[in-house]
Amino acid sequence: MAHKIGILTSGGDAPGMNAAIRAVTRAALKRGMEVYGIMDGYKGLVKGKIVEFDRGSVSDIMIRGGTILGSARLPEFKDEEVRKEAVEQLKKYEIDSLVVIGGDGTYRGALSLTEMGINCIGIPGTIDNDIVGTDFTIGFDTALNTILDAVDKLRDTSSSHHRCSVVEVMGNHCGDLALYTAISCGAEVVISPETGFDEDKVIKRLQELERIKKKRHAIVILSEKITNAHKLAEKITENTGFAGRATVLGHIQRGGSPTANDRILATRMGDYAVKLIEEGKGGHCVGIIDNEIVGVPIDKALHEERQSRKRMYDMFDRLV
Ligand code: F6P
Repeated sequence: MAHKIGILTSGGDAPGMNAAIRAVTRAALKRGMEVYGIMDGYKGLVKGKIVEFDRGSVSDIMIRGGTILGSARLPEFKDEEVRKEAVEQLKKYEIDSLVVIGGDGTYRGALSLTEMGINCIGIPGTIDNDIVGTDFTIGFDTALNTILDAVDKLRDTSSSHHRCSVVEVMGNHCGDLALYTAISCGAEVVISPETGFDEDKVIKRLQELERIKKKRHAIVILSEKITNAHKLAEKITENTGFAGRATVLGHIQRGGSPTANDRILATRMGDYAVKLIEEGKGGHCVGIIDNEIVGVPIDKALHEERQSRKRMYDMFDRLV
């Protein structure tokens, strides 16, 4: 059966989403499917913001950050009546399959729509890397490189001034952006949901680094939503020989042209999503595990526990 498929991006945008949109569109057209772009996530779907895509609709978008489809958060999508409106819109266009690109909120919507008869395939697009069922999400690598670029610059100035930079990074409730940043910039301290936060311990560690290891500067990578970066920097100034300074990187982490890694990951995942549709595997999401692209049932991805990063945290501690 020739499928009519819709694509949408939902939740926080992530660099590489456009490469995934391009791959899904081109792979589907090649297989004789019709493709529809749905604007502004589930919000746009409910309002019927749907446009037919051809090859040219996705030309020259690979290098662009953000998402050409627009994105939105729609908490009301939990409500069955709202989802019924979405299903009505899809029926109007005879769209039988939907590829949704986003994070766990997007996946929850996709699971409910699958239960209402629409074959949904999820592609993990979020800088947070907080999706189970995949080692990496689209956008994580680009965000990590953006953060690294900023931290490298902060290190220059903090080393000139005998300072300690507290750098707050995104991640929602997942510490991967903080951990991978800390490892790749050689930070002195990482504070994330996985490490927990003990202010006295952080201060003690910085005092030791300064007094015993004679460090002239230090970098603290702090995951968002744990403590106030500016207050922590003040405490550091009051209690250690470093002058503390805080930098909250904010939404700059979500922008920019995707890295080669994210473009390739998004392309592989988009192509595979269309294969899953062809095989009639609605209710699945795409992941990359040990560098192999795989399909996992969405409910499994939503309910399983994340793999512990303990070994990476231990390695970080050994190398400070
Ligand atoms: O999920 C991506 C993300 O950037 C999180 O890291 C962050 O907590 C959140 O979105 C910010 O959301 P908003 O853009 O709605 O402020």
